[in-house]
Amino acid sequence: MNRDIACIGAGYIGGPTMAVIAKMCPDRRIFVADISRERIDAWNSAALPVYEPGLRELVETCRGRNLFFTTDLAAAIRACDLIFVGVNTPTKTFGEGAGYALDLQYWEAAARTIAAEANCDKVVIEKSTLPVRTADAMAAVLHTHPEHTFTVLSNPEFLAEGSAIQDLLHPDRVLIGGPQTPAGRKAMEALRAVYAAWVPRERILLTDVWSSELSKLAANAMLAQRISSINAFSALCEKTGADVEEVAHVLGMDHRIGADFLKAGPGFGGSCFRKDVLNLVYLCRMHGLDDCAAYWEGVIRMNEAQQRRIVLRTVQALFNTLSGKRIALFGFAFKANTGDTRETPALSVARMLAEERAQLMITDPQALPNARKDLADLPGVHFCESPYDAADGADAVLVMTEWTDYRALDWAQIFRAMRKPALIFDTRNMLDHAALRQLGFRVLAVGKP
Ligand code: NAD
Ligand code: UGA
Repeated sequence: MNRDIACIGAGYIGGPTMAVIAKMCPDRRIFVADISRERIDAWNSAALPVYEPGLRELVETCRGRNLFFTTDLAAAIRACDLIFVGVNTPTKTFGEGAGYALDLQYWEAAARTIAAEANCDKVVIEKSTLPVRTADAMAAVLHTHPEHTFTVLSNPEFLAEGSAIQDLLHPDRVLIGGPQTPAGRKAMEALRAVYAAWVPRERILLTDVWSSELSKLAANAMLAQRISSINAFSALCEKTGADVEEVAHVLGMDHRIGADFLKAGPGFGGSCFRKDVLNLVYLCRMHGLDDCAAYWEGVIRMNEAQQRRIVLRTVQALFNTLSGKRIALFGFAFKANTGDTRETPALSVARMLAEERAQLMITDPQALPNARKDLADLPGVHFCESPYDAADGADAVLVMTEWTDYRALDWAQIFRAMRKPALIFDTRNMLDHAALRQLGFRVLAVGKP
């Protein structure tokens, strides 16, 4: 088995993950291959297709040395004996399982390409998030070419966007699932050796394939469920005069509950929580576990309700009509430090505000190119580089993304530029509300009286 590594799929996962492997394993050649010429050209340019703190420096160090971005999938597959598959697995929009199940067409196409192009035995590593027991299907596709042996491992990724490089460099754990056979154990060792270049041995967990695949779905479901739980409390706080940040603080001091992921806000966005929880709902239903399916579906419903509540409270605060009013959204990315807008709460809020016939002014330090695409079908939307321009003449500012830059804005200047009474809805609870009130703002926040 040679030491070189290929990754099929040069997206948010493939690019950063392989850049870190290239940096930490300078003696291995890493080929990141994709069918999208546009994506690969971007990876080979100064304007990378993914924004992540620290990523550009890493790519610039390794690109052309031991890190290569290519559209030549066949050459990458032939050159490397370890092949990651990190293609997209969106929610299916058609046929059986539409709206819930994962669409596995990209994953299957990648598996077929590997099978067709392989020139010797290969270890194929699932990096994409997949339904439990997908490795069986992967093996079936690969064995359509029985002249070579393919060993399928599961190695799900736990990084979060915005902190991808730090998460990859210092993972809580690396999970490797493989067949409990001599070939499976050998393949797992080969993959463990890659991570062992920088991850402490006790953090690399070896398990069976099904547990590994399911653990990834379970981890995302548990994280999403915590956000829906705290958001459910935020709604009750607003009705009762309690403060959700006080409640979260009390909860977080119980070591059994833990302090992370208890931030109330506009609900979770990002490409994975929604799709993975929906997939879990589908898997439960498929196995006749309707009560489990209903439980996990509640996590999604709660998330949608949170965004509806934000819009409803905005409408109520602006005298029950938004017609022709100007509303500035500060932040469009689904979280800070990324330009990614997939499933961003700002998008569903923007669409509901537009239905109320509000005029929208959108600003974001990284996500404007994506925001322009996401909202291309909506008339009356304006995009502003500067938050000051976005707020000019606005009736309300909704802070949708927790960019730290927003704390340092000259809010007195923003107040002066807005139509009165000026409303600010801090959906991330990140600003100094007392100071804003002193300036004359009416302030709304999530889960606060
Ligand atoms: P993405 O859409 O950014 O990238 C996927 C890439 O795969 C695209 O560039 C696409 O052109 C390419 N592709 C599709 N079919 C192909 C084929 N047959 N051959 C070659 N290339 C092909 O998606 P992503 O965000 O990187 O997610 C990929 C997987 O990783 C998903 O399963 C996701 O659930 C999982 N994941 C993502 C994150 C994240 O933070 N984005 C975190 C953990 C896990
Ligand atoms: C999430 C997981 O955290 C990763 O472990 C996982 O690998 C990844 O999904 C995936 O499978 O794609 P990511 O979506 O990039 O990572 O970002 P998170 O930091 O988890 O945030 C997700 C959403 O939840 C964001 O919209 C964020 O604003 C929101 N959130 C997060 C809250 O509303 N409250 C919190 O306390 C934490």
